[in-house]
Amino acid sequence: MTTLSPAEPTRRDFLCVATAAAAAVGGAAATWPLISQMNPDASTIAAAAPIEVDLVPIAEGQIIQVFWRGKPVFVRHRTTSEIKAARAVDWRALPDPQSDAERVKDGHDQWLVVIGICTHLGCIPLGHQGQYDGWFCPCHGSVYDTSGRVRRGPAPANLYLPPYAFLSDSKIRIG
Ligand code: FES
Repeated sequence: MTTLSPAEPTRRDFLCVATAAAAAVGGAAATWPLISQMNPDASTIAAAAPIEVDLVPIAEGQIIQVFWRGKPVFVRHRTTSEIKAARAVDWRALPDPQSDAERVKDGHDQWLVVIGICTHLGCIPLGHQGQYDGWFCPCHGSVYDTSGRVRRGPAPANLYLPPYAFLSDSKIRIG
């Protein structure tokens, strides 16, 4: 008859150790994809990145639409009369009181940059339409002026301004 001292490893001990090791490796392997999935992929990082917009091709009176973080952004090259109209308003009496000067960058009054989403329920307003020749939202009739301020309809707020800066007189960076 063979006897084993308690210090000698048995086959059962070996199996227990091997199983525990395999479980640890498997656990780590299972955790890695989870951690990996929590990191943003390249397209997500790119979608959140700032964008640069060249203003040169945008003619006076024209509005272009770009996308930043998946949202439409309107860049409007305002005419002198559009700026005048935006400044002639008693802005303190507006539904969301804000002066035109607060909505543009100093020295760049001709450029208005707004998020192109109606602040009521998120439709995309149409440019150069509505009573004030700003934007008109066809969903429920909100009207914005040439400063993107709400003037009529159910929208509770002016069109939002994205964070942006002038890199030069002819280029902006949004984001
Ligand atoms: S979503 Fe624009 S008025 Fe309702």
